[in-house]
Amino acid sequence: MNAVHPLSHSPESDLLECLAAQHDRLNAALRATPAYEWRNQYHRDLSPIGWHYAHCHFIEAVWLHERILGEPTPTRRDWHDLYFPEQSPKWRRGGRLPPRDALLEWGLACQHHHMELLRAHPDVRRHPLLENDYLSGFLAQHHAMHLESLEQVRWFARLRRPEPPGVQTPGPAPHTSGDWIECMGGEYIVGSEAATAFDNERGRHTVCLAPHALRSQPVSNAEIAAFVEAGGYRPGPHWDAAGRAWLEHTGITAPLGWSRLPDGTRVQTLPEGTRLLDPQAPAVGLSWFEASAYARWVGARLPHEHEWEHAARAGRLRGTGAVWEWCGNDFRPYPGFRPYPYDEYSMPWFDGEHYVLRGGSAWSDPLLKRSTMRNFFTPEKRHVFAGVRLARDL
Ligand SMILES: [Fe+2]
Repeated sequence: MNAVHPLSHSPESDLLECLAAQHDRLNAALRATPAYEWRNQYHRDLSPIGWHYAHCHFIEAVWLHERILGEPTPTRRDWHDLYFPEQSPKWRRGGRLPPRDALLEWGLACQHHHMELLRAHPDVRRHPLLENDYLSGFLAQHHAMHLESLEQVRWFARLRRPEPPGVQTPGPAPHTSGDWIECMGGEYIVGSEAATAFDNERGRHTVCLAPHALRSQPVSNAEIAAFVEAGGYRPGPHWDAAGRAWLEHTGITAPLGWSRLPDGTRVQTLPEGTRLLDPQAPAVGLSWFEASAYARWVGARLPHEHEWEHAARAGRLRGTGAVWEWCGNDFRPYPGFRPYPYDEYSMPWFDGEHYVLRGGSAWSDPLLKRSTMRNFFTPEKRHVFAGVRLARDL
């Protein structure tokens, strides 16, 4: 996010347009995917591109037909087993997908039909889920998150077939992750009452923050390169026990996507291709374990999500929206949490095993880039376009 832009209480037509825009992006993504690629599973956590495309349309159909109109979803019954994630092991998804052109044709028909229902069907318009056009906004954001997953698939496809670096970037330049922004502590508001907020970010409430400081910018590639060169990826006291076990198990020695040319020059593969590592750019491709180890190595820590949100709301953070920023705290319900629009959206992930990420990445839709948005993943995940911003106590 060039700036953290709150997703404000949008007029209904805006949210319908947001959903239509996500449809266009889904269509473009499927059309741009080579025939050999759209069924491929490149990573055990990442479904094939074709599955993401189909799942988005199937979920729309289920919400509109089953949940709102109370009628069966007009799709093949065996698609429930394929497109409901809980019922479909990821490794089996690619082989069961229909041909790409058939999928695209079905997707286009769904989009047309669903937009008609959302715009004009009286029983749909009257349904409580359509108040303030909540469902259109929910679906648009759901699709935006799957579109970011498609970028992750593209990243892994690139990593399988690295190309020589194309774009030349400036040579190494000194870079630090900015000034320390100090916060004297006190009581601050976090959370959202926006109609379009997810259940887990709902409920504006007061939190008490101790005096602390955050870096104005996320940590750069140059800073992580210094960590790599200094042996930061070798076990040491800056790795906690779980991080050290993960490090020894994986044998990882650098962020995801980093490699070297025969002459030792560092290059980085991203979804767009391979390029010389830009020392100034925010580091990306880090797990929570790596982010935490780096922070500890420089005598700092990860921010608590409330510290991040307060600074973002106050407009004090720079460089937000380039990489998701790992927070030090795990994902928990806010006071008075109520699951909405269904129990499993957030609740299963309040398990103490997921950590919060804030801010959005360069591959996230602006819809997701707001100061209150909470993303969450387990600490070993490296494919989620995440980096790190430093914090410390004052
Ligand atoms: Fe989904």
